[in-house]
Amino acid sequence: MIPLFFKKSLYSKRRKDFSENLEPGRDLCVLFTQPERTRSFDGHFPFRPDNNFLYLTGFAEPQSVMLLWREDGAPRGKSSKIIFKMGVLPRDRTMEQWNGYRYGVEGAKKLCEANDAFDFSELKTQIQNWLSQVPSPGKRPRIFSNCFEYPEWKIHLDRIVENFHPPHRSKIQPLEGILDCRHWIGKSRLVKSKEEIENMRKSSDINVQAHLEVMKGIRPGMMEYEAQALAENVFVKNGAANAYNSICATGSNATILHYNFNSSRMKEGQLFLIDAGCEYQFFTSDITRTLPVSGKYSDKQRALMEIVSAAQQTAFKMSKPGQSLAKIHESVSDTLIDGLKDLKIMKGKTSAIRSSGEHRVYYPHGTGHWLGMDVHDACPYLDSKGNPLKLETGMIFTVEPGLYFLKDEKSVSEEWRGLGVRIEDDILITSRGYENLTEDLPRTANEIEKFMKRKNSSFQS
Ligand code: GLY
Ligand code: MN
Ligand code: MN
Repeated sequence: MIPLFFKKSLYSKRRKDFSENLEPGRDLCVLFTQPERTRSFDGHFPFRPDNNFLYLTGFAEPQSVMLLWREDGAPRGKSSKIIFKMGVLPRDRTMEQWNGYRYGVEGAKKLCEANDAFDFSELKTQIQNWLSQVPSPGKRPRIFSNCFEYPEWKIHLDRIVENFHPPHRSKIQPLEGILDCRHWIGKSRLVKSKEEIENMRKSSDINVQAHLEVMKGIRPGMMEYEAQALAENVFVKNGAANAYNSICATGSNATILHYNFNSSRMKEGQLFLIDAGCEYQFFTSDITRTLPVSGKYSDKQRALMEIVSAAQQTAFKMSKPGQSLAKIHESVSDTLIDGLKDLKIMKGKTSAIRSSGEHRVYYPHGTGHWLGMDVHDACPYLDSKGNPLKLETGMIFTVEPGLYFLKDEKSVSEEWRGLGVRIEDDILITSRGYENLTEDLPRTANEIEKFMKRKNSSFQS
């Protein structure tokens, strides 16, 4: 039985805020969470609820749906009565013996403080009744949904409403369409509440502990998956789960951005890049460190670490209300380009290199992304005018510059090829600037060497 992780009043406030987007007597919101997914044949992936559904309901069981609308009778933007219904899988003695407890219809109604609840299999009737009875005369009804993320739910919903399109309905207003509402929820998810920040802190703290274990434990000869186990053991021990597949990459594997095989052996003198993050009560963290397998960086490795650290510092200094991620990315790119010029890997005017995108061979990704319930949190990057969003207190994002030289990269001399460095931390914007939620983890070459020398039994002299 998965409880609601926040107070019922928080979910109710979120639903109220969300409902302001809906026109009373016209709009119905249909928000799905996914069913269990087959991994292969008779096995399933661990279930993970849809975050937008979870944000508004708190309900974490598979194959559920939220219906929400505002009754007519109050002008748009003013409060009118919100009707909130939950459709869930019913209690089922046999299924519960196999798969565990279900709240069922009555349990879900009570848990979520819904006006009503129904068996998921009645969704068709629920929506068709709504379309026939609720929209006010003269208003063409609209359905707002997250079904665009789930082809099977989109098809399901299309079939449910197929007879409500013109020309079938001569007596009542035909459906205007099924529209996406995820951007409205994404906008609310951008600024974290104090309860959410607490969970983000907890997630970050667990992740810092996990990365410390890796720094303490790696040594030449170890398999990448053994380092993965050191990190993920800390996640599980603390009631957290992986937020994404851990990237444990030794040597030139570190140049592959989403390397996931984790099956190579670490060799003396190599760099080991670990990008691992956990999810605690549905809130994520995302950290990358690049470690010397032998406890000491070579001159070339250190040079790259120093440039990437400087790029991180550029981002940290700019992290404050009013700034934008786009501007931070530009400045971080400039710092990396300057560093590459110092190493004689690039030449020319920094701004010209940045505009041409020449540096993207070595820095092919962005500097960061929103972080929250999703690792790449599903929040907008642009404001309503199409300009980069300005940072505000309570927003959380990653800062993760990197430099990568593929092992067959002909534009650099051989000694650089196969090196990959990324450093990633999680930043909360505060009224005074920022707080690094993952501050306590060594990040620079000097800090990491010092820590590994003290804590890793393989490197004590
Ligand atoms: N771990 C994925 C990322 O850093 O974006
Ligand atoms: Mn990231
Ligand atoms: Mn990452």
